[in-house]
Amino acid sequence: MEVNDLKISVIGAGYVGLITALVLADMDHTVVCVDKDELKINKLNHRIPPIYEEGLEELLDKCLNSKTITFSTDIATAIKTCDVLYIAVGTPALEDGHVDMSQSNVIVDSLAKHLDHYAVIINKSTVPIGTQKHITQTLLEKGVSKELFDVVSNPEFLREGKAIHDFKYADRIVLGCESDKAKAILKQIYDPFVSPKIYTTPETSELIKYAANAFLATKISFINDIANLCSKTHADIAVIAYALGLDHRISPEFFKAGIGYGGSCFPKDTRALVKIAEHYEIQLKIVQSAIEINESQKLKPVKLLLNHWEEMEGKIVTILGVTFKPETDDVRDAPSIAIINKLIELGAQVRVYDPIGNKNAQKICPKAQYFEELYHSIDGAHCLILCTEWEEFHDLDFRFILKHMRIPMIIDGRNFLTDRDPEDDGILYFTVGGSI
Ligand code: UGA
Repeated sequence: MEVNDLKISVIGAGYVGLITALVLADMDHTVVCVDKDELKINKLNHRIPPIYEEGLEELLDKCLNSKTITFSTDIATAIKTCDVLYIAVGTPALEDGHVDMSQSNVIVDSLAKHLDHYAVIINKSTVPIGTQKHITQTLLEKGVSKELFDVVSNPEFLREGKAIHDFKYADRIVLGCESDKAKAILKQIYDPFVSPKIYTTPETSELIKYAANAFLATKISFINDIANLCSKTHADIAVIAYALGLDHRISPEFFKAGIGYGGSCFPKDTRALVKIAEHYEIQLKIVQSAIEINESQKLKPVKLLLNHWEEMEGKIVTILGVTFKPETDDVRDAPSIAIINKLIELGAQVRVYDPIGNKNAQKICPKAQYFEELYHSIDGAHCLILCTEWEEFHDLDFRFILKHMRIPMIIDGRNFLTDRDPEDDGILYFTVGGSI
């Protein structure tokens, strides 16, 4: 096989699967992206991206035009015709925090049923340590000859909103692989990428993914912990984060205080890692603390309001930004959702404005009122809580706020407006590490 003549199937057209499929197709591999969700596959075949992601629409167009990608629901044919089979299905959290492997197990069943030639099975989903071994064992037990496959762990580190860039220019590519035959194919796929490659054992590779997310989540909780001390001591959290970040061993990245991390990864993966460790009778105390700090951090704005007002009943609170971060329409585990639910429970009237996240939020918080226009959502409100640092919020019209809000009050959950000094304009302004 020459470089770029691999036939690749990516099973699962979610965030990771879709980006993997498109970037590899853009490198002239022949890729089929498979998903059981017919609606999603139909959309993709009609050039409609199922998620909002920078550059996705263009890349989808390009790959469909060059015919290097196809989208299908036919997993059997994909397995029978490809040299490389990526598994990129969801591994959500179960109620108790353990990893729900049911989607992955269904794919392994299909592999056992249809695999009839040698293929490298590359697992991209975030999975518990030992999964590569478990998949190998399951396939052997189901009667698949060991000559027909190798299973590799290849976790993904892309961020939503920067997914295509992060896939193409990853800080590192981690490959947990024990077979020389599979390694030769991995090199065909990954040698063209400039990123450093780490070839290691599957267990190490699987744990790298959890450890990376747990470390980043811990870094955020650490700065939030220090911010909480700042709010009592009049120390400035922004200056502290800047000063610490100048130490290259610490770095300024992921060091912004706020109402905590959300999304489909950090909350789920930190909890899963704690559970995985418990299985081995190891207590991950630092990660556990990071989770607890994050949980209380999310509700800081509500606590502040409760201190401020005796009654929540009848108060109109506008949530600015509902997505877990800007440049995405994803609202999963967003701090805003915890805030909205709590405010509604306390009897407040909650309004929401987000440039693109309203639709997704509406599905999980139907009791809030959603606005298409920013200033309509502000008009007549008692308080604004800025939950996501969307660029347009930086230009908030303070004159409008002073004139049209019942109380000109902003709780800045992302310390996003500090450089505009809203207090100088007569606005009641609260920041994380300041008065929150
Ligand atoms: C995260 C990781 O950054 C990726 O490397 C990883 O591949 C991905 O999870 C995953 O496991 O799939 P993502 O969930 O897209 O990516 O989001 P991030 O950009 O990491 O942000 C996570 C949360 O942390 C956001 O809610 C953000 O507002 C918050 N955050 C981030 C802070 O509160 N402070 C910071 O300084 C940075």
